[in-house]
Amino acid sequence: MTSLAAKFPALHRRLAPPAPMPAAAPCDPSGVVLGRDEAGEPLSIPLQSRLEHVFMLGSSGAGKSSGLAHYFAQSVRLGEGGLLLDPHGSLAADVLYLLRNTERTIHVIDLGASALVGFNPLELLDDFDPSAIVGMILNAFNVAWDGESFSDKPSIERVLRAILYVCVELGLTFLDAMDMLERDDNGLRQYAIAHTQNEISRRDLIRLEDLARHG
Ligand SMILES: Nc1ncnc2c1ncn2[C@@H]1O[C@H](COP(=O)(O)OP(=O)(O)O)[C@@H](O)[C@H]1O
Ligand SMILES: [Mg+2]
Repeated sequence: MTSLAAKFPALHRRLAPPAPMPAAAPCDPSGVVLGRDEAGEPLSIPLQSRLEHVFMLGSSGAGKSSGLAHYFAQSVRLGEGGLLLDPHGSLAADVLYLLRNTERTIHVIDLGASALVGFNPLELLDDFDPSAIVGMILNAFNVAWDGESFSDKPSIERVLRAILYVCVELGLTFLDAMDMLERDDNGLRQYAIAHTQNEISRRDLIRLEDLARHG
């Protein structure tokens, strides 16, 4: 400040004196710690603030990327879920290094790699009902189709619901779902018809199978 003040005396007169540091709050266990404040106390961002958006600002080399890497790694260690989008890749590499000992599952989708780690949105997690997952995916379709309601397309919704349901139920993937829409699906529909526990899906798949066989 001293050298700035000497350089820009007019500006300096206009600047209010810096506010005194507020008393440090006790470290919140839901908080992500980014460092220490001027008083040497842990500087943490509590969950509530993190849910209301965080904007990290600083000049080049100030430590934004390092701060973000620690932020992300800590929130994973706190048991939270996160999605890190990193067009450069170096931040993701730092985060993976920081989390090298974690028990949590980390999926890496590297669009530049020759081999990918798969992510199956249709995976049936413990305590989930297949219809809950199907409902979320149909919602996503709705949004992707610009909010067009399925009420205008009841047959599409029924077909999608039946196919997605059996895929979730029988441990299949989106690729299988697409195959099931093909006329010649290598017996996948028959397999699903034989194995699904859901009568409505079975009935809709039988109709689809009839359509594929007889046009
Ligand atoms: N808290 C810190 N203590 C010491 N060095 C740091 C700290 N934060 C960042 N650095 C170092 O400063 C350099 C710039 O950090 P970086 O996070 O890449 O800055 P930015 O993303 O803001 O440009 C890196 O070499 C980094 O290792
Ligand atoms: Mg950076």
